[in-house]
Amino acid sequence: MKYTTLLTSLETNIFTVTINRPDKLNALNRTVMAELDAVISEVEKNAEIRAVIFTGSGAKGFVAGADISEFKGLTNSEGMDLAQWGQEIFFRIENCSKPVVAAVNGFALGGGCELAMACHFRIASENAKFGQPEVTLGLIPGYGGTQRLVQLIGKGRALEMLMTGNMIDAQSALQYGLVNYVVPQEQLIDKARAILETIIQKAPLAISRCISAANAVFDNSHNGYEVEIKAFGECFDTEDMKEGTGAFLEKRKPVFIGK
Ligand code: COA
Repeated sequence: MKYTTLLTSLETNIFTVTINRPDKLNALNRTVMAELDAVISEVEKNAEIRAVIFTGSGAKGFVAGADISEFKGLTNSEGMDLAQWGQEIFFRIENCSKPVVAAVNGFALGGGCELAMACHFRIASENAKFGQPEVTLGLIPGYGGTQRLVQLIGKGRALEMLMTGNMIDAQSALQYGLVNYVVPQEQLIDKARAILETIIQKAPLAISRCISAANAVFDNSHNGYEVEIKAFGECFDTEDMKEGTGAFLEKRKPVFIGK
């Protein structure tokens, strides 16, 4: 299939998907999101694909978040629709029947961190940085981040990251259990491939069931996702969200008023 914002390659049954908007640090605009949805359909349909690697284009960025320029003027219900749509796409990644690994080669912020967390596990290059900086914009994560961050690193560390908006480096991500390995950037894809080569030697149906069974642990958390969608939509009613996103786009410091 042809994509405008994704590069894909299939080599010895491992499908590499590279988000390719390097001039915008691979930010997730609606086209990227629609193409991520389509790429998962391709993965499920194509029997030659046995495993997937998600990575970002350029040396600096995995994905620096949802595209902030698309938030301008959204209403509460449009915000909810966006979060609902994003969550559905990331659920499809999380529930993909074939193993999906994030090879995080730079900034994994906001929706980028959420994309990495929707993958089955994560490998980072030494320069990788992780964060959920939405509060800096007067927002919260909307693509499952509040739920998966707590699942992966625990409530205390997750709430510190969510409420400060601070980034953590690759070594902290390793210590927190957010990533499984940290390697030099030039070895990142090889490391991901090496692990996936082991996995694809095993029984594919058993691998699929490992994924669905591991995901079943978190079935009861669906209310949390509904809470997140509602809260994400509500952010679009606030002055601070308009100020935060406006300030980012105008390259100035935001002034928040708590309204
Ligand atoms: N949405 C839209 N555009 C984005 C973006 C995003 N999430 N993240 C980066 N970009 C764009 C920048 O606006 C800039 O575009 P321009 O060259 O047309 O001005 C380009 O990508 C490069 O980013 P820049 O900020 O110049 O790079 P940097 O190395 O100075 O800073 C970051 C890197 C990641 C720290 C900074 O880009 C940033 O804070 N991005 C936003 C992160 C965020 O809040 N994500 C959550 C969104 S909900």
